[in-house]
Amino acid sequence: MSVTTRREDNVGYVEINNPPVNAIGLSVRQGLLDAVTWAEKEMLDRVIVSGAGRIFAAGADAKEFDQAPMKPHLSDVLNAIDESFVPWIAAINGVALGGGAEIAIACRMRIMAPGAQIGLPEVTLGVIPGAGGTQRLPRQVGLRKALDMITGGKPLAALAAFEAGLVHDVDENPVEAAFMVNTEELGCIVPTWELPAPEADAAAFAAARERAETKMAGQIAPLRAIDVIEEGLARPFHEALPIERAAFLELREGEQAKALRHIFFAERAAKAPDSLTELPRELEQIAVVGGGTMGAGIAYALLNAGLSVTLLETDADGVARAESNIDKIINASTERGLIDANRAQDHRKRLILTDDYSMASQATLAVEAAFESMEVKREVFTKLAAALPDDAILATNTSYLDVNEIAASVTNPSRVVGLHFFAPAHIMKLLEIVNADATGDAALATGFALAKRLRKIPVLAGVCDGFIGNRILARYREAADTVFMDGSTPWEVDEAMVEFGYAMGPYEAQDLSGLDIAHANRRRQDATRDPNRRYVRIADRLVELGKLGKKTGAGWYRYPGGGGKVEDPIVADLAIEESHFEGRTRTDYSSDEIRQRLLLAMINEAADILDEGIAASAHDIDLVSVFGYGFPRWRGGLMHHADTIGAEAIVAQLNELAKEDPIAWKISPLLQRCAELGTPIAEARPSS
Ligand code: 3HC
Repeated sequence: MSVTTRREDNVGYVEINNPPVNAIGLSVRQGLLDAVTWAEKEMLDRVIVSGAGRIFAAGADAKEFDQAPMKPHLSDVLNAIDESFVPWIAAINGVALGGGAEIAIACRMRIMAPGAQIGLPEVTLGVIPGAGGTQRLPRQVGLRKALDMITGGKPLAALAAFEAGLVHDVDENPVEAAFMVNTEELGCIVPTWELPAPEADAAAFAAARERAETKMAGQIAPLRAIDVIEEGLARPFHEALPIERAAFLELREGEQAKALRHIFFAERAAKAPDSLTELPRELEQIAVVGGGTMGAGIAYALLNAGLSVTLLETDADGVARAESNIDKIINASTERGLIDANRAQDHRKRLILTDDYSMASQATLAVEAAFESMEVKREVFTKLAAALPDDAILATNTSYLDVNEIAASVTNPSRVVGLHFFAPAHIMKLLEIVNADATGDAALATGFALAKRLRKIPVLAGVCDGFIGNRILARYREAADTVFMDGSTPWEVDEAMVEFGYAMGPYEAQDLSGLDIAHANRRRQDATRDPNRRYVRIADRLVELGKLGKKTGAGWYRYPGGGGKVEDPIVADLAIEESHFEGRTRTDYSSDEIRQRLLLAMINEAADILDEGIAASAHDIDLVSVFGYGFPRWRGGLMHHADTIGAEAIVAQLNELAKEDPIAWKISPLLQRCAELGTPIAEARPSS
């Protein structure tokens, strides 16, 4: 039974019981509707509704969104609750989201546990509240607050919900508190649908639209929610509801909602493979090697997750630098209110900074984030193998180096794994877990356990230059440089990708991360690069000029006085000069053409990555692109987006581009197969 009912004296207790998150599927909707009828038939004084377990209700069952809607619809169920002569009290024992919050909002009264949250995150799934939320919430908390909650999608903690007037009380035991509510007091509360709608406020709507257009650029649901709220205010409650429902259903079937659902479920499916036969090491004491930006970020992430860290450096100067780097992160987090002073102090207590590897003798896992040099890494691994227990897992955070070669520096390479964090490591959600030839199941399982502990999204990757993400990034940048060289400018390229939905384009992003890392990488690849492959020198010339990005005041853009970016005509001239010497005729690319080239370059490379088994599935590539590289979430990730174009169309476009440069645009066999068989890329698997 997804909804249970019981009567004690004149009080009805209704419990939503649909593990794991009490999602509101058909059986819950039917159960709630039956409970309304039951309570009325029994002539109860009140009904107290709560959720079984730690959650009140996580909202509509999003797994049903691909099917035709089935009666009873949640909107009808909630109308029945709102209009019932038996008053319902929501005892919000845990998270109440989406339809879960709408159940609570339809009740006469709400009492919330201190640790619970309430919110309408529908826009994060590409839809709007579809069960009265857009009309009831403004009546309860006012127009501005409702606009904020519905378009932003961020839930409120109990105290904030109380201050907003959304809940009547906060109590450790909301069910008990609901029982104690005075019957007369309860009887005086006006049902929400009878409350007057707030006054229309043009300024509030304009501000909400502006916020949605900047903060959620490209997404249609937040703007649609604002329209629906505005239209609703001008009508009686029951005439507004069908407008909301029609918009909800239309959005639910749209591309953006499908993409956002896809990424929501892919994120939750990112777990250790069932095939692993060994358990992870217990995570308590972790060694981190290197206290530069990356190492410090990793150490902070570990401390934040309650782990103890021994940060190993080469000498006293290194230790001092590492300490200052970690201090900066701790202080910034304290200033931003992410951690309080007690927590900051606790972090420092669990951190040892030293150049003595024997201090890490109890560590069950080491994460090496030392300088990107094979020689340095091998030396570090030899020292780690000598200092740590024989069964400790040894991980490298290398971005590009061969993990097999690093693993060969220890006698038992099965305990070596790649753990590729993304900068800033304490913020970015992606963790590539690199499975080298000899990596054992215990090492992989430990990597996945660490990701879970750090609340990161783990994606398994094979060994190759750049693994999944950086390998795709290299092609993205190559395509951008070619477009720039052959007729465009960095700012046109950036603008085209921002229009697509990236927060920033490839050139601005490089300026932020620094041009030196990619430059060192290109030098490493010089020996093995196909001599027939076209090579664009402009980035190298910038580095030669000392333009390393924002940190040097100039890169692809200029940053006068360390401020915002300014277009630099000298950089534009470099491309004209280089293409002149190469004897090329420059073309004026449109934004669409720029986007097409950059996206196809990434899709083609990603298809090879999938075909070679470096990524296990197209879903994994989607996760990498969204959580590591800023691909717009609402487009569902790189491969999901590719499927919206279709393999056949992609191959046709690549064929055209291959006429210009058959090496750079060599079509991936996986795409060819999908095009010939008419199968989605999402379902494609490695060829071997
Ligand atoms: N529908 C279907 N399945 C859901 C779901 C939902 N709304 N929410 C969570 N699940 C599933 C997950 O896919 C996962 O399944 P799995 O075990 O098979 O992988 C399982 O429940 C557990 O989910 P989490 O791993 O996310 O559990 P957490 O404890 O970490 O988080 C949560 C719980 C905070 C509730 C989180 O799951 C969440 O944010 N869920 C989505 C909430 C949401 O967006 N609700 C709005 C839905 S749309 C709506 O309600 C429309 C309405 O207006 C009509």
